[in-house]
Amino acid sequence: MLPYTLIEKKQAGKTLTRKEWEFFISGYLSEDIPAYQMSAMLMAIYFRGLEDEEVSNLIDIVIQSGKRIHFKHKDVFYADKHSTGGVGDKISLILAPLAAASGRVRVPMISGRALGHSGGTLDKLESIPGLRTNLTLKEFQEQTDRIGCALIGQTNDICPADRELYALRDVTATVRSIPLICISILSKKIAEGIQGLVLDVKSGNGAFMQTKKDAETLASKLKHFGEAGGLKVTPVITDMNQPLGQAVGNWLEVRESLDVLHGGGPQDVRDLSIRLTEEMILLAEPKADRKVIHAELASLLDNGKAFDKFLEIVKAQDGDISVLEDPESYPEPDYVAEVTADEAGTVQSIDTYGLGLDAIDLGAGRRKNTDTIDPKAGMLVHVNIGDNISPGDPVITLFSDNEKALKNKVKEIGERVKLN
Ligand code: URA
Repeated sequence: MLPYTLIEKKQAGKTLTRKEWEFFISGYLSEDIPAYQMSAMLMAIYFRGLEDEEVSNLIDIVIQSGKRIHFKHKDVFYADKHSTGGVGDKISLILAPLAAASGRVRVPMISGRALGHSGGTLDKLESIPGLRTNLTLKEFQEQTDRIGCALIGQTNDICPADRELYALRDVTATVRSIPLICISILSKKIAEGIQGLVLDVKSGNGAFMQTKKDAETLASKLKHFGEAGGLKVTPVITDMNQPLGQAVGNWLEVRESLDVLHGGGPQDVRDLSIRLTEEMILLAEPKADRKVIHAELASLLDNGKAFDKFLEIVKAQDGDISVLEDPESYPEPDYVAEVTADEAGTVQSIDTYGLGLDAIDLGAGRRKNTDTIDPKAGMLVHVNIGDNISPGDPVITLFSDNEKALKNKVKEIGERVKLN
């Protein structure tokens, strides 16, 4: 088999056999197939798509590139939530400890890094000094069973093929593909040994699926392939026409999550965190009363138990909890700039995708996969669609160690928010 002819085959819109996909994926992992040929293949998939049979085969091949976890306790419900990606989406940082604090489910969570314009839970977690996200599988399982949750990234053990493909898609503009998103998310989630999965399928100008119709197609495909892989799946389509909460950028988002874990924070972040955790628990206990679960989750945020669970998880993974207890002690970015409104008006729309790219320019994401992230970089977006603003009102505050990038952004970022 030649990689070249397989790329040509997909380019022509033909279906590749399981053997051909095995050859291509294993060849890429062993470096016999170079990144430029894999990039060409990803682009061919992006334009030509994949048949359902190819998606099922690829989910399986990606799982088999590593190990699959089997938890020992048959009487426990292991569940997770995954977002298809957005801007300011810090829900996992709240939902994981909240669900674990409820004691109704255990959460073995494998998260990804930033992808395209969207942030990644793993990068956010790694803004906490010392936090290890590369637990061994034994540690991951043991911690999940001991304290109800563990938070890791893809390792050599779990779906290494997804880790490599994810990094390549991030820099080759091949993220926005329904079959590739299904393969990436479901391979990780099936491999982590869960029974239930809540999928937050984002729709809008800051999501990979910009229209409701595309989000619905992605949601139904994720449910179909997830169930075929033995999971109970609840997809929820949620809005991504403006950032979630105010904070965009790794440490800034951790900080905002701490506010929510203390019972405060932006209402949209609190509501969505509770909603998705509720869905997760309902997968475990389908007969439970939604209202009772909702009230229980709200009180776990308000009484500090979810925050305590977050500290317990971070501590178990060697993270420095002092910055979570006293966020003011976290290093400050070198430069801060506030963009204010020039005129009065009502916010009509926010270019959320553009803000995601701006955050990368400020240092919060990667332009190429070898770049390092500045955890302090990012922005606070002070306005929401529908807000009335007056001249001089703060619109966006920018944070960066890169003075030039910050100055350039100050000039252009006001354009992201459109007034009537
Ligand atoms: N999240 C993932 O893990 N993979 C994708 O492709 C998109 C979002």
